Amino acid sequence: MRKKIIAGNWKMNKLPNETISFFEEFVPLVKDTKNEVVICAPYTDLFYAILSAQNTNIKIGAQNMHWEENGAYTGEVSPQMLKAIGVEYVIIGHSERRQYFAETDETVNKKLKAAHNVGLKPIVCVGESLEQRESGNAKEIVTKQVKMGLKDLTNEQIASTIVAYEPIWAIGTGKTATKEDANETIKWIREEIENMYGKENADKVIIQYGGSVKSSNAKELFEMSDIDGGLVGGASLKPDEFSKIVNAV
Ligand code: 13P
Repeated sequence: MRKKIIAGNWKMNKLPNETISFFEEFVPLVKDTKNEVVICAPYTDLFYAILSAQNTNIKIGAQNMHWEENGAYTGEVSPQMLKAIGVEYVIIGHSERRQYFAETDETVNKKLKAAHNVGLKPIVCVGESLEQRESGNAKEIVTKQVKMGLKDLTNEQIASTIVAYEPIWAIGTGKTATKEDANETIKWIREEIENMYGKENADKVIIQYGGSVKSSNAKELFEMSDIDGGLVGGASLKPDEFSKIVNAV
């Protein structure tokens, strides 16, 4: 059985002192969960988060990275740099990065391979916009993101890739996909991965749902057959609220 991974994406929020206080409150609240708990913090908070999470069941992730190991890429951070300070996860191709920073399925694929090459666990985001959904193109869009973003991996790499299905219209809007819709789309995603890599590998891929997950809807979403946890934005900023999401199942 696939385990559930509940990851918080803090986006561009929290200073180091706020990071430290978050962990002081959060650590005891989630210590008994069987789920994998991840906090994806801004670069400037990562080191504080890693120190605060030492000897706990909480793993730390970054929200982005470059695909090259080093070089003249002003302002960028490499997979090796993240790995060296103890980061374990990295979000790749979040819709906000696709929308505001011109990330494409091609760059997502390069980053995904680069993450695997250093042993970072990638969380690859896919999802359609409201316009795409309303015009009936959701399946086509998500399928293309999966086909191009997840191509040319080894069996071992695909099996340890995490996918987050985040419909853009549900991010930060308070509108959540219904549990049936989210489950259905996640099934398509798994089918596409099966077409690419076979059933045995596809069955191992953890696929999360993201988009306005909160303590009041986490349980019903996470109990669905194909939803293997969540990628949580706004609600992950508050220790009490996020712990209720982690402990929902
Ligand atoms: P919200 O939970 O704030 O809707 O954000 C979802 C998200 O983008 C997580 O990556």
